[in-house]
Amino acid sequence: MTTLALSITDIQAETPLIKTFLLASGNGRPLPAFTPGAHLKISIPDQKDPRCYSLVSLDADVDEFGKPEHYRLGVRLEDPSTGGSLYMHGLQVGDALQAEGPFNDFPLHAQSSGDAETVLIAGGIGITPIAAMATALKRAGKPYRLHYYGRSIAQMAFLSPLAALHGSALQVHADDDPATSRPLAELLDQADRGQHIYVCGPKGMIDAVRAKTLELGWPESHVHFELFVNAGPQFGDRALEVELRQSGRILQIPADKTILEVLEEAGCDPLYDCRRGECGVCQVDVLEGTPDHRDYYLSDAERKEGKVMQICISRSHSDRLVLDL
Ligand code: FES
Repeated sequence: MTTLALSITDIQAETPLIKTFLLASGNGRPLPAFTPGAHLKISIPDQKDPRCYSLVSLDADVDEFGKPEHYRLGVRLEDPSTGGSLYMHGLQVGDALQAEGPFNDFPLHAQSSGDAETVLIAGGIGITPIAAMATALKRAGKPYRLHYYGRSIAQMAFLSPLAALHGSALQVHADDDPATSRPLAELLDQADRGQHIYVCGPKGMIDAVRAKTLELGWPESHVHFELFVNAGPQFGDRALEVELRQSGRILQIPADKTILEVLEEAGCDPLYDCRRGECGVCQVDVLEGTPDHRDYYLSDAERKEGKVMQICISRSHSDRLVLDL
């Protein structure tokens, strides 16, 4: 694992809620190369878990991926913040940061180097990894279309550099500008099943793209996504009981906490990484009970089988689960 000492060289307010941070090496060592879709894990003081921020690239004329002179992050101030974005927005030029990475759980696949136009879809701050993908495709001379969705033009970051770089390949869809709005379903209806889709944004957007592409018979391997929020309770969630079969412990999981969180509070040391149902690291075997799968990792067949589950996000249809822990 690469630990990086970084120093902030510039901060810009892109919108009232989004700031960009330009980061240089803090110790003179060259910054590691990265690939489009990659992120850094930034350490936040007094927080157990680092926060993941995607690396933004907006310049196709220089090799920002292979020989980065700096890293660029875009951070939205969340409301409520769990500590990460609030800390980032309080930083000043010259402040030091410690990070790990770059990591990439959302890579552009080899197939995207073919002739079919790649469809890039960003919602809100989900533009950060998608912008890097668009830049990489532009540099490679590959066909692509970048759809950027947002609530309002005033809340959408990087509009000017994106327009300058991508020209007519950029299509902005703002809720407050009916002339630009275009339903996702319509966009997907008109796309070709052979195209690769990359989507990053809020859960509702990703769920909508997944449902529509499934309905249209799109190959799952052509639909790539990254979620920008951790697991949160949903309306109607209820408490459940979990038995850890190996230790014999019984844990009560309240409606507003995940199984993973309760395990941590109980002094267990569960494995995890993304905490949003994407990586599969927290997967456990289910011995009894019916999981309510909310992850983006398992196949439909694995979900139906119900033999494993992602405890960072999934819950239970039954009142009780027995896990092989
Ligand atoms: S920690 Fe990544 S799927 Fe649970």
